[in-house]
Amino acid sequence: MLSLSNINVSFDGSRILRGVSLAVPERSLVCLMGRNGVGKTTTLKSAVGLVKPDSGAVTLAGVDVSDQQPDQRARAGIGYVPQGREIFPHLTVWENLKLSLVVHGGKPNGQVDRVLDLFPILKDFLQRKGGVLSGGQQQQLAIARALLTDPKILILDEPTEGIQPNIIDLIGETLLKIKQEGRISILLVEQYLEFCLNVGDSFYILDRGAVVAEGPISHLNDEVVKTHLTV
Ligand SMILES: Nc1ncnc2c1ncn2[C@@H]1O[C@H](COP(=O)(O)OP(=O)(O)OP(=O)(O)O)[C@@H](O)[C@H]1O
Ligand SMILES: [Mg+2]
Repeated sequence: MLSLSNINVSFDGSRILRGVSLAVPERSLVCLMGRNGVGKTTTLKSAVGLVKPDSGAVTLAGVDVSDQQPDQRARAGIGYVPQGREIFPHLTVWENLKLSLVVHGGKPNGQVDRVLDLFPILKDFLQRKGGVLSGGQQQQLAIARALLTDPKILILDEPTEGIQPNIIDLIGETLLKIKQEGRISILLVEQYLEFCLNVGDSFYILDRGAVVAEGPISHLNDEVVKTHLTV
């Protein structure tokens, strides 16, 4: 569904990504893991088009989108939930959601009800300002907003960061539900091992800008974790 091949990124002359390749097959959930600052967000931004790699290619459903701007990639089917959520605090929940409908020319794509059913709390809070929601509610809003663009692939950057355990469970269940519906693949940056083991089909681990381990989620064992993930 989505593939990155041999992505190289530099900021101010220092290499941040070194030949990163990864693939998100259809109907699967892929976890991208790694310690702080190894290049996880930069990898996602390269996929979304917010970072321009020095070299390498991004393909979506077999189409090379490397030269496309972020808005074009959104229309082509890449939905993005950034790290830190980035909702608009002064807009209401409904206004935040409505903004993403712009991606498809302002027309509700018939998914508003379906998406709100996934996150019932948002339905109750449609007229509240985004900024007064809890972190967990804001995360649900950010995911709902991305789903409203009708993506083929949903890319999430640490959706569980700073969120209370019961909402983490809810987010995990929701991602599994979305995956099981079979229309949307998921690429997830995540630092919680347990969360990846629960929801993931396969994993990649980055270290200092390079993929150092990958495989089916069942191969994410203690040894791999000890070598690449513990501080
Ligand atoms: N726009 C930028 N300009 C310069 N350096 C940057 C920029 N964005 C990221 N970096 C650097 O690139 C490296 C990788 O950053 P990145 O945000 O991709 O890491 P990460 O794995 O997502 O980290 P975290 O776990 O903290 O979210 C870091 O050293 C960071 O300081
Ligand atoms: Mg990051």
